[in-house]
Amino acid sequence: TEGDILGSLYSKGVKPDGVQTLDKDMVKMICKDYDVEVIDADPYKVEGLVKRREILEEEDLDKLKDRPPVITIMGHVDHGKTTLLDHIRKTKVAASEAGGITQGIGAYKVQVPVDGKTLPCVFLDTPGHEAFGAMRARGASVTDICIIVVAADDGIRPQTNEAIAHAKAAGVPIIIAINKIDKDGANPDRVMQELSSIGLMPEDWGGDIPMVQISALQGQNVDDLLETVMLVAELQELKANPDRSAKGTVIEAGMDKSKGPFATFIVQNGSLRRGDIVVCGGAFGKVRALFDDGGKRVDVATPSIPVQVIGLNNVPVAGDVFEVVESLDTAREKAESRVMSLRDERISAKAGDGKVTLSSLA
Ligand code: GTP
Ligand code: MG
Repeated sequence: TEGDILGSLYSKGVKPDGVQTLDKDMVKMICKDYDVEVIDADPYKVEGLVKRREILEEEDLDKLKDRPPVITIMGHVDHGKTTLLDHIRKTKVAASEAGGITQGIGAYKVQVPVDGKTLPCVFLDTPGHEAFGAMRARGASVTDICIIVVAADDGIRPQTNEAIAHAKAAGVPIIIAINKIDKDGANPDRVMQELSSIGLMPEDWGGDIPMVQISALQGQNVDDLLETVMLVAELQELKANPDRSAKGTVIEAGMDKSKGPFATFIVQNGSLRRGDIVVCGGAFGKVRALFDDGGKRVDVATPSIPVQVIGLNNVPVAGDVFEVVESLDTAREKAESRVMSLRDERISAKAGDGKVTLSSLA
């Protein structure tokens, strides 16, 4: 009963006043007394995400082929993420953004030169502004590698920490890009010290986190950074089965005046083709057209490739999982049951605020 638990708290030296929050160790201690297992909730878990590796199925294992790495660029606002990607893609997106702030996830396929060849890579640019936390969580969850950009004249800031937490929660290797080393007041050593004090020890200091000092604006050492990315990617042996129906995650979605609902998918396994029937969250439909990251019509999107899809009946929610199914009937059924279970979740979420209280335990 509630009284028993209150008693246990007193016996551990806690005077319960009905409103204080217990730390994790205390909760674990109390739960042990009652033989209750404590599950560490992941604060950055976004509903509906597919963990990267879980997407491969048994039947895929003997049909796996190499796929390009998906690399997400994260970090505090204005630390230079879009500028870095502009340098890599030879574009000028950062200069044209409203208020100089990124507000969505951009997904781009880039040919990266390595050892005289070029290899395809997919980069996701995420917003650094604090309002876009869910977007960052989503970015980290579909990715193979996180580049965390830290401005050398500013150091670790709140969204730097958040980005690190997302990458860790998603179990994704981290590469640090210490940016803006061209600026007066840049102090890359201080950044490395700050990072090591939170447990990210630079490789150069005997740790296991690669850190590259760059100027995204001037392009200094960006090739070193890309080389590091490719090395880390190679170790992961990234594979998928392109010869099956597609599965993946919605990274962005919206409504276009002329095209109707659209969604950007990252294909994580299989190949998505024009004419396929997809269900994603509560939305479904027949893929009427596919557009690549340059807005060009394509017929197919293979593993790791971002693609914009039109033909859905509704706007899905970014973070939703998508899959190809056999018929529109199946798609409709799946979408409807998804909507129903979401409604149930919402009702139960309303019933409590998700926090475990003493009375809900007892
Ligand atoms: P959000 O997407 O809003 O989080 O910002 P961001 O991280 O994408 O930063 P962005 O690339 O938009 O750059 C912010 C500002 O920093 C711009 O004025 C850039 O020109 C400048 N900047 C980026 N990289 C460098 C660099 O290496 N050196 C110098 N001096 N300025 C840089
Ligand atoms: Mg940006």
